[in-house]
Amino acid sequence: MSRWHIVPLSEAPQYQPQLVEWLWQAFGDQQSRAFFASVIESSVRGADFPQTFVALDGVRPVGTVGVWRCDLISRQDLFPWLAALYVDESARGSGLSAALQSYAEAWCRARGFPDLYLYSLCADYYERFGWRYIGDALDYPDVVVRLYHKAL
Ligand SMILES: CC(C)(COP(=O)(O)OP(=O)(O)OC[C@H]1O[C@@H](n2cnc3c(N)ncnc32)[C@H](O)[C@@H]1OP(=O)(O)O)[C@@H](O)C(=O)NCCC(=O)NCCS
Repeated sequence: MSRWHIVPLSEAPQYQPQLVEWLWQAFGDQQSRAFFASVIESSVRGADFPQTFVALDGVRPVGTVGVWRCDLISRQDLFPWLAALYVDESARGSGLSAALQSYAEAWCRARGFPDLYLYSLCADYYERFGWRYIGDALDYPDVVVRLYHKAL
């Protein structure tokens, strides 16, 4: 049995501040903390998107992942997106990243989405989880990023 329990953030909204802090620290070089707070808050309002999931080790949050309608405004033809994947330092290297990705994929599959996309600055990470690099794209306004696709 898995060490972690992954749930939609809407079922555990008390973890919102921790998730905002993680995402801001990991990805907030250009965006403000309020930007991430807004994304997280909008995922507990009951809409289809965005979705945020949190991994718990007991009552301790140890990771998160999201499924977003759009993560790259230059590629709005692609949908939906796996986004905001984060594993707490205390839980890294233990397979939680793969578990969070699988959870997000299963959520999308259950809703009939045949494809899932993500973008990353990292090379040689997502490939190991079965993602296929499909070329480069631009994050606003001029940051070159790597696009990945997974057939569900
Ligand atoms: C990226 C992240 C989710 C991986 O979580 P994790 O639990 O350590 O992941 P895994 O155990 O599945 O994989 C660990 C492997 O990924 C590699 N890795 C971690 N971060 C990486 C990165 N930014 N680029 C490339 N490889 C990376 C590690 O070196 C390790 O490699 P090894 O297995 O050969 O030792 C986690 O490190 C994290 O949240 N980081 C902060 C956010 C971030 O940097 N996101 C960008 C990811 S490309």
